[in-house]
Amino acid sequence: MRDRIETDRLILRPLEISDAPAFYHHCLDGSVARNTARIPDPYPLLAAELYILSVRASAGRKANYVYAISDRHSNALLGASGVFKRNVDATDWEIGYWVGPDAKGRGIATEAAGGLIRAATADLVPQRITAGHFEDNPASGRVLEKLGFTYTGCTTRLFCMGRLAYATSLDMALKV
Ligand SMILES: CC(C)(COP(=O)(O)OP(=O)(O)OC[C@H]1O[C@@H](n2cnc3c(N)ncnc32)[C@H](O)[C@@H]1OP(=O)(O)O)[C@@H](O)C(=O)NCCC(=O)NCCS
Repeated sequence: MRDRIETDRLILRPLEISDAPAFYHHCLDGSVARNTARIPDPYPLLAAELYILSVRASAGRKANYVYAISDRHSNALLGASGVFKRNVDATDWEIGYWVGPDAKGRGIATEAAGGLIRAATADLVPQRITAGHFEDNPASGRVLEKLGFTYTGCTTRLFCMGRLAYATSLDMALKV
């Protein structure tokens, strides 16, 4: 999978340790943690640093490609997006994404995930790309619908570290 993905307004690039303060800032209000599975709340700066180091250290597994979403002009970190296999035997690739509260409502998540999907389709040649969103997060479902995903009718119970509780994720898929 390529290192760099460009869209009209964005550059998706590897996360750097210098992104940790901005990453931490975006996670302060808890909305990223509540709507993703593996980000605890609170999320201290050290957690952001460790996450970035672990993503970089495990890049050689070639099963989890995480990108910083950065503004093409200011280079500011707006969020993150990645494509990964849920387990080693999985045939599907799954995508995930988040943007910080300040970047919401401008089409950033859709543009970033769209760029990621185009690159993943070319580089990983998946038969299907999957994604999901918690049932109380319809904005993420809308992002996926705009990208051509449809609901599979299945759900997954995921433990959400930001809620300290299980929550139901609605499964979606994109045939590529
Ligand atoms: C959900 C999230 C990814 C959306 O990011 P974004 O950059 O604002 O998304 P976009 O602007 O590309 O698109 C959002 C769409 O949802 C719609 N939307 C917003 N709130 C909504 C709601 N409560 N119900 C239904 N649709 C909603 C918007 O109107 C827009 O659709 P439109 O273009 O047809 O008007 C972002 O808020 C986020 O990162 N949240 C926290 C983490 C998260 O939820 N990650 C996804 C995990 S599955």
